[in-house]
Amino acid sequence: MTQKETAPATKPLGDGIVAVTGASRGLGVEIIRALDERGFTVAALSRKGIGPEQGDLPDAVKQRLINLACDVTDEDSIAAALAEVDSRPGGLRYLINNAGIHLLGPSRSFSNDDFRQVLETNVIGAFAAARAAYPYLRAKKDRGSAIINIGSFFDRLATPHNTAYSASKAALAAMNRCLAAEWAKDRISLVNVAPGYIDTDIAREYLALDEVKAYFARRVPIGRPSQPEEVADFTARLLDGDLTLLTGETIYVDGGHSIDHGRV
Ligand SMILES: NC(=O)c1ccc[n+]([C@@H]2O[C@H](COP(=O)([O-])OP(=O)(O)OC[C@H]3O[C@@H](n4cnc5c(N)ncnc54)[C@H](OP(=O)(O)O)[C@@H]3O)[C@@H](O)[C@H]2O)c1
Repeated sequence: MTQKETAPATKPLGDGIVAVTGASRGLGVEIIRALDERGFTVAALSRKGIGPEQGDLPDAVKQRLINLACDVTDEDSIAAALAEVDSRPGGLRYLINNAGIHLLGPSRSFSNDDFRQVLETNVIGAFAAARAAYPYLRAKKDRGSAIINIGSFFDRLATPHNTAYSASKAALAAMNRCLAAEWAKDRISLVNVAPGYIDTDIAREYLALDEVKAYFARRVPIGRPSQPEEVADFTARLLDGDLTLLTGETIYVDGGHSIDHGRV
């Protein structure tokens, strides 16, 4: 094992705990790894409550995690998980709303039920978690606290067959702005991190297609999708800084994908 893998949490307990939703796989697991590397104490909130189920997190990191069950479409489960986090030494100081789903389909036949399911998870779930976290974060006013939402660059693109997902991420960005304005007096900062394509389960099949690889090479300034550890590292680094002036913003971390005109 490398020194990095065995390094104990280095931040003082008073720095508080970071709760990460959707901690079972994908970006959530990499966010956990990046936070642990920075010495944060991390609560891994997942539907099964057993922490990361995929990925190759070192055992030493897994042993440091606080694993809790949390389905973001279930208010009681969110409330119980966040109360438990806050009862631990240091208490809940940061929330990362990472859990999300992506349902794809032509709008002419996309059902209301599917649309609702996307909104329930990606927007209402994030809102419910933020609302449940609020009293615990407000109690840390002397130090300041933060909520990071994981949005998507689809919130500002026209993406056929992605109406529900794109709408959900645009709504999440709006929620991020509104809560930032409402809770700034409590020294709670909100930042919406909006990635481009990330090589995780949600997009892997699509990204493996030859025509999609060719599209990336031609159309995306960095010529490729991002790796989850790149987005995770960016997200974790935010918590090392003072987010007061950044509050309410959406930051696009998409390798220039959404701002590039493309070449003829
Ligand atoms: N991958 C991309 O290209 C991309 C691009 C932009 C933004 N994002 C965003 O990044 C975030 C993470 O996505 P990912 O790429 O890591 O996708 P992923 O590999 O499909 O992982 C999604 C995670 O969300 C969890 N989740 C889904 N519904 C949940 C619920 N009701 N309650 C609790 N957890 C739930 C899943 O848990 P289970 O294991 O229990 O299903 C899983 O941990 C999402 O918000 C996504 O929209 C992804």
